[in-house]
Amino acid sequence: MNAGETGPSNADLTAPRFDGLMDVIRLRRSVRSFEPPPEPLPAEVLRGICEAGRWAPSGANTQPWHFVVAAERADVLAVSDVFVRQADRLVEHCRGFPHVHKKHWLHNSLAIVLLFCDPRWVDSYPVSDHEGWADEYDANNEKILLASVGAAAQNMHLAAAAYGLTTAWLSGGGEDSTAAELRELLGVPELLVPIATIPIGWPHRRADSRYRHPLDELIHWGRWDPERTPADDAVQTYVSGVRRQAMYRGSETLED
Ligand SMILES: Cc1cc2nc3c(=O)[nH]c(=O)nc-3n(C[C@H](O)[C@H](O)[C@H](O)COP(=O)(O)O)c2cc1C
Repeated sequence: MNAGETGPSNADLTAPRFDGLMDVIRLRRSVRSFEPPPEPLPAEVLRGICEAGRWAPSGANTQPWHFVVAAERADVLAVSDVFVRQADRLVEHCRGFPHVHKKHWLHNSLAIVLLFCDPRWVDSYPVSDHEGWADEYDANNEKILLASVGAAAQNMHLAAAAYGLTTAWLSGGGEDSTAAELRELLGVPELLVPIATIPIGWPHRRADSRYRHPLDELIHWGRWDPERTPADDAVQTYVSGVRRQAMYRGSETLED
């Protein structure tokens, strides 16, 4: 706070820190191609990435996550193999989905961090004690849980980007059969659910940018602007055409 003032003012805004944060936010890109690992990552770096996750906000401060770090070569390869099988299943059963089929690039990860969520923590969120109100609260508690784990995952991706490393966000792993394989491989108790998987590596090439909806299409000042409600056909155009490019290519290949 500035001397002589009685309360905060715009002079207290820390624009340089915001700019630094935005640099890291923009630097983080999902990269699905890593250089062969030259040497193992120092444990402090992996701890640093997990520390960033630990400081994420969570519903009722439940911190419903555990971080399983596969950093030994044999463990990285074994976890990668689970995802190679997961990708094979996906290509067979979700044919329209434009994913990277062969996940062999994962073998070049320096480490793979798996976020396991403990769903018992939902009891800390609002639980109805009045008949007929369970629906109101139960489904929302699931959202609180997932949003919490997502916050931790995002912190970790940003931390890896801040170190100059790269990551990709893998939700594959949450499907029942893949989750079961991961639990078995890593000795994780049955009740824990893998929600996000973070392979970490040196990028084979950096993805400079990715398509983002223009900011002005997303902001609603004060109240909802009906003109900014995406039309159904715009959503379908994304699903059927734009999606593949928007997921895997740089933004320069797409129209804003
Ligand atoms: C919840 C969530 C799940 C995702 N799951 C996968 C996934 O299973 N495989 C994958 O290659 N990318 C996955 N991604 C990455 C997205 O495709 C990626 O974030 C998006 O295309 C934007 O690219 P960017 O991360 O480079 O900004 C996921 C991202 C999020 C947030």
